[in-house]
Amino acid sequence: MEIIKVKNLCKSFRITSKEHGLKAAIKSLFKSDYTIKEVVKNISFNISEGEIIGYIGPNGAGKSTTIKMLTGILVPSAGEVSVCGILPWNQRIDNGFNIGVVFGQRSQLWWDIPVYDTFNLLSKLYKLSKENYKRNLSLIIDVFELKDLLHIPVRQLSLGQRMRAEIASAIIHNPKVLYLDEPTIGLDIVIKRKIREFIKRINKDFNTTIILTTHDVSEIEKVCNRVIVIDKGELIYDDSLKQLKDRFSRINEIEIKLDNAPQGIMDLQSENINIRVKEHTLKVKYSKEIKPIDIINKVAINNKILDFNINENDLEEIIHSIYVARNN
Ligand SMILES: Nc1ncnc2c1ncn2[C@@H]1O[C@H](COP(=O)(O)OP(=O)(O)OP(=O)(O)O)[C@@H](O)[C@H]1O
Ligand SMILES: [Mg+2]
Repeated sequence: MEIIKVKNLCKSFRITSKEHGLKAAIKSLFKSDYTIKEVVKNISFNISEGEIIGYIGPNGAGKSTTIKMLTGILVPSAGEVSVCGILPWNQRIDNGFNIGVVFGQRSQLWWDIPVYDTFNLLSKLYKLSKENYKRNLSLIIDVFELKDLLHIPVRQLSLGQRMRAEIASAIIHNPKVLYLDEPTIGLDIVIKRKIREFIKRINKDFNTTIILTTHDVSEIEKVCNRVIVIDKGELIYDDSLKQLKDRFSRINEIEIKLDNAPQGIMDLQSENINIRVKEHTLKVKYSKEIKPIDIINKVAINNKILDFNINENDLEEIIHSIYVARNN
């Protein structure tokens, strides 16, 4: 079932051009100069229930703006959005029951009150039954190790502690859709891993649909099955992670360690396969049409293989090359 539908979504901002000086200030009282900046341009995608989507793109690409429209915080300039059958910016309260959202760059917690009180307030806002609240609370306390933090005011928490509380408060009502906009920014690897595990867990246990924005490529690789890439407000890629690698990775390398001095391997050399030999080790570069197992099989005919290692183009390199290609 498609839980999020986005069709021809656009967002433009009116930017007032500000000149300096008294003269300009007086002039602006009568006439304001402005330009229109298009930051999301005609984006369309559908997301099925239970998917984990990596929504990626360079700084300023329009990711947060898209998420703000999907959550109903911003009204689009044009286009259609439906989240769980709801038009987010028209039915913000109904929409709020279905979604959870975390903006890593901005806190949504009440600074002066302890985390536990925030959870209690939210449970009332979301009209959670006692049983559901109890169940959800014990899950999030357990997953995010919040037991010792519950009675501390948010302003006294460290960044990592606060982010755990932010995510916990975004999912206290067990939303169908969770938007995570850079949830791990500035966090250490231990907490990052915890958050990754949590994303996978709620997706598995509750079939929660998740849209994750991050600049950490390894995070995308570890949790997402599909990636949507945007750049300068345009959607430039939407498919599985595997397709992204297959389509954009240009060259792969395999390193083969032999027990003997290499024998009869130069026959393998071709337009698509390049071999370098260093003592008993082969470094074979091959283009994406070639299967590494075919190379290994052919080398094994005349040699004894001790070990091998396949170095595929890593995702970071692929994504970097997509961004760079679009700017040249
Ligand atoms: N309220 C606003 N008024 C004017 N311009 C805005 C506003 N909000 C965002 N923008 C502009 O829209 C563009 C997209 O911003 P957005 O925050 O969506 O980018 P992003 O992809 O989330 O980037 P980042 O990776 O840096 O978080 C930027 O050029 C930004 O300056
Ligand atoms: Mg952003």
